[in-house]
Amino acid sequence: MSPITITPSILSADFSRLQEDIDSVADSADWLQVDVMDGHFVPNLSFGAPVLKWIKTKLPLDIHLMVSNPAQRIQEFLDLKVANITFHAEAVSSTEEQKKLIEQIRAGGATAGIALNPETPLDTIGGIIEDIDLLLIMSVHPGFGGQEFIEHVLSQVQTARSAFPDLIIQMDGGINDTTAPKCIEAGANNLVSGSFIFGAKDRTMAIESLRSS
Ligand code: DX5
Repeated sequence: MSPITITPSILSADFSRLQEDIDSVADSADWLQVDVMDGHFVPNLSFGAPVLKWIKTKLPLDIHLMVSNPAQRIQEFLDLKVANITFHAEAVSSTEEQKKLIEQIRAGGATAGIALNPETPLDTIGGIIEDIDLLLIMSVHPGFGGQEFIEHVLSQVQTARSAFPDLIIQMDGGINDTTAPKCIEAGANNLVSGSFIFGAKDRTMAIESLRSS
């Protein structure tokens, strides 16, 4: 399993000083996650490429599309040279369609991820999991930061890790210094954390505490 990657989610940042908040984690984080929400796939609205294009950071940008029609959104993020784009299996019905999006993302120079909500079984993506670079297993119902960690997804992470030892398995939602060790133990190697990191006095220490869980 590759080293643990810590990915702050800017959904929990102070939007009135977004660049400063991003700068505050730039030297200790590995990636930076941008939660794109359309108010339809999830009951919240966040931000998209028009905001992101003003952000300056050396951190690889990880785009988490919580949108009903990811096909419409992918190109604008590829144009921003993001590192990874993840869409939800629940938003794209057919394996064929999922394959097309993965090809488009990769052809545009980013890695491609698929996300599963806590209640979506792993075998939903049986036909496509060999084709992705990253599997995101949500440990909250998507839409908001600061929610409680859902423990039962850990068994899904274990199953995925034993079947796919080299896959990047990302977990996202309710991750802090208590839940992070459980995620790593289960086999996750990329941890997304919002409120724990941006709510911390010492964000570098918060990130290190997750990485060394
Ligand atoms: C939820 C988002 C998560 C969230 C994480 O829909 O996808 O990335 O911002 O925030 P915390 O770490 O506070 O649960």
